Amino acid sequence: MAAKIGILGTGMVGRTIGSKLAELGYQVTIGTRDPETTLGKKGPEQRGAPTFGDWHGQHQSIRVGSMSEAAMFGEMIFICTSGAATLEALKLAGPTNFRSKTVIDISNPLDFSRGMPPTLLPQFTNTNSLSEEIQKALPDANVVKSLNIVNCEVMVNAKKTGGDPTMFVAGNAPKAKDEVKTILGQFGWTDIIDLGDITGARGLEMVLPIWLRTWQATQNGYFGFKIVR
Ligand SMILES: NC(=O)c1ccc[n+]([C@@H]2O[C@H](COP(=O)([O-])OP(=O)(O)OC[C@H]3O[C@@H](n4cnc5c(N)ncnc54)[C@H](OP(=O)(O)O)[C@@H]3O)[C@@H](O)[C@H]2O)c1
Repeated sequence: MAAKIGILGTGMVGRTIGSKLAELGYQVTIGTRDPETTLGKKGPEQRGAPTFGDWHGQHQSIRVGSMSEAAMFGEMIFICTSGAATLEALKLAGPTNFRSKTVIDISNPLDFSRGMPPTLLPQFTNTNSLSEEIQKALPDANVVKSLNIVNCEVMVNAKKTGGDPTMFVAGNAPKAKDEVKTILGQFGWTDIIDLGDITGARGLEMVLPIWLRTWQATQNGYFGFKIVR
């Protein structure tokens, strides 16, 4: 099992996953386009979360580097970048740095250009998905889609929902999915369904419109989906 984790993305998801993994004893490097600028973000809170610089002050064991430094460092890599920019971030990270590694894709192909709520980027839906494009961009890596269907605090603490929600994995490599399931267990997920190969990511990404409407209707982001069977 990997001891070194690379995280691409310094938003709420990258930070929440990073701090939880560090707490669990993993070595973590988090990647951003410009480490100096990102670390320099201090002061008033953004969207209810501390700025990156303030957050990092509380999590100094986590290394901050470029996208390629984080990808190179990780034996396992989490993709936590803005969905519309994920393929661009992978180019910066350098596809050869992902060779033979398990890559957990949490990103969602959302289009915020027309305001809230966002819509799905059509090129990644129905007969395609962002995860499939990531797998094509990283042919030597083992991409697994998971965790994208819940709020980031629920990702690392399934029981925060007050119940035992279902989480899914989809990917081509069974061994990589087993590694992801181990991490999911450490995040409190006990009900996990394997949706098969990476095309299973289509459904997981298309769940987002339901997630967004549920959030709007309940004004509560701490929920999950349950497959009752
Ligand atoms: N927020 C949630 O609870 C949640 C839940 C489920 C899934 N997700 C998904 O998780 C992903 C991360 O979400 P988030 O809210 O943490 O952050 P976000 O604001 O969606 O993304 C932030 C990251 O994207 C990178 N980025 C933006 N434009 C870029 C570009 N042109 N090239 C390269 N990188 C670029 C930023 O890099 P820099 O560090 O260089 O600025 C930053 O690290 C998204 O795909 C989102 O849909 C989020």
